[in-house]
Amino acid sequence: MGRTHFMIAAAALGVLGATAVPAQDDKPKATGVVAVRQATMKANGDHMGAIKAILTESPDLIGQVEFHAEAIKEAAEYTPAMFPAGSDQPASWALPPVWSDAAGFKAAAEKSEDLAGKLADAAKGGDPKATLAAFATLGKEGCGGCHQTFRKKDS
Ligand code: HEC
Repeated sequence: MGRTHFMIAAAALGVLGATAVPAQDDKPKATGVVAVRQATMKANGDHMGAIKAILTESPDLIGQVEFHAEAIKEAAEYTPAMFPAGSDQPASWALPPVWSDAAGFKAAAEKSEDLAGKLADAAKGGDPKATLAAFATLGKEGCGGCHQTFRKKDS
């Protein structure tokens, strides 16, 4: 490779690097209670992933679903307290109705809590099909029900 080609290649790499890194840096870092609730929500997602893996990949472990469901249930109970008034700094994906419709937000958290309890009960019953149905309902009406109104869309 001649020197000019080398320079062009290096410049091209530099440009790629330069575009890749700021894309990450542009995303403001979550601070304060926003960091707490985003980490808790991520844990919710991981618990849901574990439940799905148990039910679809290794149903013999159905006895462990209850643990994950109870963690989700408790997180739902704590959710309203993780959204104090004014905690809408840019890193947050929470939408204004979280605060303007606080009663609706609390009701959505309670609904998710209730559905997580039903999932734990279904798992205790030991029937993978009924447990999968309760899991799907929690995802759609519990997590999804709240996100639809109270969280910015992914795109
Ligand atoms: C009562 C409302 C509510 C319920 C119930 C709820 N969420 Fe959330 N979730 C939110 C809000 C609001 C945000 C945005 C928080 C922020 O960015 O400040 C969020 C964010 C998230 C995120 C993104 C976290 C991040 O890194 O930014 C994930 C993942 C998530 N939720 C998963 C779940 C799962 C899984 C469930 C159900 C087991 C669930 N959520 C139930 C309201 C809810």
